[in-house]
Amino acid sequence: MLPLQPMLQAYDAQKEGCMSTDANGTNLIEIRDLKMHFPVTKGIIFQRQVGAVKAVDGVSFSIKKGETLGLVGESGCGKSTTGRAILQLHRPTSGEVWFQGQDLTKLRGEQMRQMRRKVQMIFQDPYASLNPRMTVGDIIGEPIRVHGLRKSATAVRQRVQELLELVGLNPYFINRYPHEFSGGQRQRIGVARALAVEPEFIVCDEPVSALDVSIQAQVINLLEELQDKLGLTYLFIAHGLAVVKHISDRVAVMYLGKVVELASGSTLYSMPMHPYTQALLSAVPIPDPKVEKKRKRIILEGDVPSPLNPPPGCHFHTRCPIVIDKCRTEDPPFVDYGNGHFAACWRARESISLLPGRGAEVIAPPEHPIPEPKVEPNAE
Ligand SMILES: Nc1ncnc2c1ncn2[C@@H]1O[C@H](COP(=O)(O)OP(=O)(O)OP(=O)(O)O)[C@@H](O)[C@H]1O
Ligand code: SF4
Ligand SMILES: [Mg+2]
Repeated sequence: MLPLQPMLQAYDAQKEGCMSTDANGTNLIEIRDLKMHFPVTKGIIFQRQVGAVKAVDGVSFSIKKGETLGLVGESGCGKSTTGRAILQLHRPTSGEVWFQGQDLTKLRGEQMRQMRRKVQMIFQDPYASLNPRMTVGDIIGEPIRVHGLRKSATAVRQRVQELLELVGLNPYFINRYPHEFSGGQRQRIGVARALAVEPEFIVCDEPVSALDVSIQAQVINLLEELQDKLGLTYLFIAHGLAVVKHISDRVAVMYLGKVVELASGSTLYSMPMHPYTQALLSAVPIPDPKVEKKRKRIILEGDVPSPLNPPPGCHFHTRCPIVIDKCRTEDPPFVDYGNGHFAACWRARESISLLPGRGAEVIAPPEHPIPEPKVEPNAE
């Protein structure tokens, strides 16, 4: 018999925008049914809206204090927009962002300014995100002055030097300009700038994708060290699952404005339920020639549809290798399969066996068998 009740409850919770994806523990931040639709207008003088780019279309998740949530997906799926909408750099179309008992989407003026100090962002491009006309001392010192965290110029300078030391740079670099640094060093400056206001939550938007592989590891290690030292909470955005594997406690996979799967790192890598996650995982190289030889990549056909006009039903149905009729018309709910493993797929439970030789059995290390899902979905 199919256990319909848990699914219906998940439907109801999602409809009310109060679905909690918290596995257990206290949330530092909780995002509920977040939507960011950019209007598309026509006309020069009298502009009228003719459509909307649904960059983020109903995203819900939570992050516990001290946790790192990895957010992955292809280019254009809405990762950066999600991060920006959480920090209110884009005002969301709808939804809620709860942080320390306050809904950030409702804050304005001074209240918002105070809250901005606690939520920061590290940007993808360390070359474009630092003002080339400002010295490192000014770049890192500016937020300290703006938020009045140190009173005198000497105290600001001292704090900047402390921060440079914290991110592994020489404090004597304070008078240098960004062009005098390497990419990895610039990203460290970006990290120091984010830390200058003593934040609690940081959105790291592809902080290593512009860097060499060897430098990537250094920056990721630095972020981990700082997390341990300062008790930081991260939303870590990346293109592929390989980058987030090391740093994330849980991982959310995004496709065309929606989160399609969310689970702890170990569960997601060993038991992916959504065909899109399985395709992403099949692209992650495994450092074992015997295993690597046996593996087949899942090549997704076709392009990612436009967020201006996403396909009906499951957004992934135009590229899914195991699509069924129902997928073309009905949007699958985001269901908890136990232990905080969520997936939005009508065939989540059977998907691994339907993609033989490509799913978890070749991804999971031999000592990590595939567990049975706790709750069975109402799969066809
Ligand atoms: N300010 C904007 N106005 C209109 N559309 C936008 C705006 N910002 C982003 N978009 C659109 O929203 C969608 C999601 O963009 P976003 O930058 O969030 O993707 P992403 O997942 O971060 O991609 P990437 O991995 O390439 O950084 C894209 O189709 C993009 O064109
Ligand atoms: S709901 Fe259907 S189309 Fe979407 S991922 Fe699952 S099987 Fe594929
Ligand atoms: Mg981006």
